[in-house]
Amino acid sequence: MNKNLRKAVIAGNWKMNKTPSEAKELLTQIAPLVKDAQCEVVACVPYVDLAVAVEAVKGTNIKIGAENAHWEEKGAFTGEISTGMLKEVGVEYVVLGHSERRQYFGETDETVNKRTKAVLKAGLKPIVCVGELLWERECNITEEVVARQIKLDLFDVSAEDVKNVVIAYEPVWAIGTGKVATADQAEEVCALIRATLAKLYSKEIADAITIQYGGSMNDANAAELLAKENVDGGLIGGASLVAEKFAAIAAAANA
Ligand code: 13P
Repeated sequence: MNKNLRKAVIAGNWKMNKTPSEAKELLTQIAPLVKDAQCEVVACVPYVDLAVAVEAVKGTNIKIGAENAHWEEKGAFTGEISTGMLKEVGVEYVVLGHSERRQYFGETDETVNKRTKAVLKAGLKPIVCVGELLWERECNITEEVVARQIKLDLFDVSAEDVKNVVIAYEPVWAIGTGKVATADQAEEVCALIRATLAKLYSKEIADAITIQYGGSMNDANAAELLAKENVDGGLIGGASLVAEKFAAIAAAANA
């Protein structure tokens, strides 16, 4: 993290966990534990939990995010949720292009790009996820894969808008596997993402963009990861469902 240049963002991605009542309970547990956090603290929760979650964090420093959003404003898209719906509920962040959506739900860089532009247009902050498969890392193409995702996912996003984008580097082999990337591996790819952003925009803009690491991040390994210059936060799955663990990660970002 380089706190002089950018703000750390610690975000939980709850995935398909917690009913509305459970969400309220977990957020009520987290709130007092993160009240002094100097980083941005975000909980990205299932759609049906959003209204309850926004209500539960009123008067706290926790922001609420969704886990996806459609690119059209409205229409015949059964099962989808628009940015306008999210905005009205009080959502501030939206996770986009998560590898689980790419793997299981046919998400492509083209649709991630459309969603990213729609989310920015609505004045929400996208957390755009990129990362290589294990096979791609073994073939030594991590650099190409991640640079390509960044270029495609951010295609046609203006220099002004990109300042509101958060990038999450999530190596797919590290998600939910307990196999965390080493701090050096995370730093190497986060630095590469920043270099790609500098080429697409400018060094100044790239320096101001928050780049998170995600993949088996927890209270035990967060400090080492966050100590790296280009790792500006975390997108946390499993450990974000346990109040004490999530709060400990936010505390590690304060250090
Ligand atoms: P885990 O922290 O459970 O590995 O999940 C990471 C992730 O996918 C966050 O988006």
